[in-house]
Order: sequence, then C-alpha cells, then structure tokens
Amino acid sequence: MDAAVSLSGLLSEEGRRNPYEFYARLHEIGEAIPLGPADRYAAIVCGYEAVDQVLCDPGFRVPDAEYRDSSETWWRDHPVVRTLLTAFPNVNGADHARVRRLFGRAFTARRLAGLEPYIIQSTNRWLDRLAELGADGRPVDFMAGFAVALPVDVIGELLGVPEPDRAWFPSRVADFDAVLELGQRPLREVKAANTAAEELSAYFTGLLASRRADPGDDLISDLVRLNDPGLLSESELLHSLIIMFNAGFRATSKFFGNGLALLIEHPDATAALRADPSLAPAYVEEILRYEPPLHFAVRYAAQDTEIAGVPIAAGRSVLVLAGAANRDPRRFPEPDTFDPTRTDNRHLTFSAGPHFCLGAALGRLEGRLALPRLVSRFPVLTLATEPGERRTLMLRGFEELPVHLSSRETATIS
Ligand code: HEM
Repeated sequence: MDAAVSLSGLLSEEGRRNPYEFYARLHEIGEAIPLGPADRYAAIVCGYEAVDQVLCDPGFRVPDAEYRDSSETWWRDHPVVRTLLTAFPNVNGADHARVRRLFGRAFTARRLAGLEPYIIQSTNRWLDRLAELGADGRPVDFMAGFAVALPVDVIGELLGVPEPDRAWFPSRVADFDAVLELGQRPLREVKAANTAAEELSAYFTGLLASRRADPGDDLISDLVRLNDPGLLSESELLHSLIIMFNAGFRATSKFFGNGLALLIEHPDATAALRADPSLAPAYVEEILRYEPPLHFAVRYAAQDTEIAGVPIAAGRSVLVLAGAANRDPRRFPEPDTFDPTRTDNRHLTFSAGPHFCLGAALGRLEGRLALPRLVSRFPVLTLATEPGERRTLMLRGFEELPVHLSSRETATIS
C-alpha cells in the first residue's frame, strides 16, 4: 500500500478527528486498497461501487461467532461480546434471515405509521424543554436535551419500555457500545461494557417476562407472541432485543447532533428549510451522507475472492468504509460540499444488502418530523461554544453540543 496511507493514518488522533482527508487520499488510489499480511484487515474498501458490492455480497459475512472462534476464544468470557454475537446483526445466512424476519414482522409499516403522532408529540415536548432550559440566553446542551432524549423516547415507545425507565439507558448503552469502535479498546472500557451488558440483560429479561405474563400492544409483546412456536432461542430473542434497543437510539442521536451542527454552519440552507418544511427529507439524506454516524463495517470472505481487483483470501476480513463511499467523487459531484438540494443521493449510511438497517425508515421518519420543527421553533440557533471534537468512527458525533436558542412561543408545525 502507498506509504503515505496506512490504517494507522485513520486510527491516529488526526485521522479520527478528520477522516475525510484520509478518505480523499484513498479515493485517489482506488476502490479497494490491499493491506499487508500482518494487518488485521486484508484490505480497505473505500469506493462507492466496491463498498456497495461487498455489503450486498453474501459471500462477505459479518464477523460472527465462527469467525471469532477461528482466531481466539477469549471473547466467550465477555458478556458484551457474547450479547453482540448472539444478536442477529452479527449472524449470517439462514440464521440471520430467520431472526431478522421475526423482528421485521413485528416492525411493520403500519406500526411505524401509528408511531408518527407520538414522535410529533415527543418532539414538541423536548423542544418545549429546550426552550425552558435556554430561556434568557442560557446555553443548553442539545445532545442531552433533545438529540438523545427524543430517540430514546421513540424506541422506548415502540418496544414498550416504560417511560420512567428510559433515562436509565443512555449512559449504560454508551458504555456497551464503546467496544464497537475501530481499533483495540482499553481494558477499563471493556469492563464497563461487560457491566452494561449484564445490566441490560437483566432489565430486558424482566421486561420479556412481564410481557409474557401480561401482553400489551407494544413490539416486545408482539415478538413474544410471534415467537410462540419457538422460532428463536431465548438468548437470540433477548440479545437481539438489546441490540435493537441500542441501535434504535444511538445512531439517531448522533444524527441529530451532526445535523444541527451542519444547519448552524449553513444558515441559508436552514432558512430554506424553515420556509419550506417539505424539504426535510432531502436535508435528512444529505446530513446522513455528509456526516454519517457510522463510518465503517467489517466483513470477512467466506471463500477466496476479490474486490475491485484486490484478492481476498478465505477467512480474511476487510474494512468497509461507508463514510468514505459517501464522499466518493466518482459517485457524488462535489462530495465535500454539504448540499441539501442534491439529487440522486443514495448514500450508504444505512448499509446495503442483507444487513441493511432495519430501522432506516424509523430513523428517517424521526429526522423528517423533528428537523423542520426544531428550526421553526427556534428562529435563532447558534453554538454557545465550539463543539467538542468527534473522535470515533462508530457512532460518530458529539458528546455535548451547547447552543443558544431564541424561541417562538409555540411550535408552528403541529
Ligand atoms: C440515523 C439513524 C441510523 C443509522 C445511521 C443506522 C445505521 C445502521 C447501519 C450502518 C447498519 C448496518 C451495519 C452493517 O452493515 O454491518 C444498521 C443495522 C441495523 N440497524 Fe440501524 N441505523 C439507524 C437507526 C436505526 C433505528 C432507529 C433502529 C431501530 C429501530 C435501527 C436498527 C438496526 C438494526 C436492528 C440493524 C441490524 C440489521 C441486520 O443486521 O439485519 N437502526 N443500522
């Protein structure tokens, strides 16, 4: 590989802070770039075509228990990894399809449509709260006050997690998710993730038991009923539920923070959205393309294969950079320009192929409903301080985003 570009470039402080310069150099080299035999990955896949192809090809598998076992078995001692590897997002082939089908059946378009009034109500509630906290020009943290609060409420409502329990989750789930980051994680993070996995497991075991005893009209009750014939083992159901809950708010929270920072940076675009809320879907797509919450996925080759001319031996894994694909100049004109009027914006932020995000429609719906309400409710939105740096490539976003806002009395979109 080009001496000027190695994986350590991406993993460095600078690379994590601004991966886009690294991606631009990758695009000059090619669609896929081989790494050395000692590297963890056989190649980096960065071009749009190649990323799409790997994600859609069932011959490239998500790293599952079998893959982990081929190089190490220590992971079985870690509750967080056991939870991850028995949940359907980290399973392949027929087993993945079997569990995903059940979750997909419970997660219908009708259920989503039924959730819309709740999303609007919750959006307005959290906007009111922001207005209250930011009254008299006080700075308010948009992340805690809205970007996390709304998606937790929405996934909690969908699954049937009681409202008083919801504030308990964000810090635990953040601990759990820390192990998903690219590169080695420090032991203290792994320990915190294990504790979080055990706590989440205890919580959802209790919730499953209570819905079995007393079903409601929430998704967990549906899952329990649909699973009556025993299609899923208890650990498949429990662990998939935990991951579904986590996935259901973490990326969406980061999306809102990244989105607001972009809107503040682009006041003309924000004014256009304020004037015409029907533009919201295009804004959501461009925020997702330009600042994706998830920059990468990993896949391993089931057999000897090649990608964009780079040979990949059976059992070797590749680093698939959707964040780079979204900035591929061969696919997107002026890829480094934030342009919500962009057409043909089929980014890869929700992945592609068998593991395409199961909650994409919900994530999009939350964005489409909340963003126009946010900018309409607050005609003035500015940063209170420089936002902290984004340093992760998985769940990339702000921890805090202090803003000043000036408020209208009530939301103008009901
Ligand atoms: C802006 C918001 C979101 C983004 C950017 C996002 C992104 C992603 C990505 C990239 C994947 C695939 C990873 C891979 O290919 O290895 C994925 C999978 C998944 N997402 Fe999302 N997601 C979002 C919101 C949601 C929501 C709201 C839910 C739940 C309601 C959800 C549930 C899932 C599930 C269950 C999977 C696993 C699918 C499978 O492996 O079959 N996501 N998401």
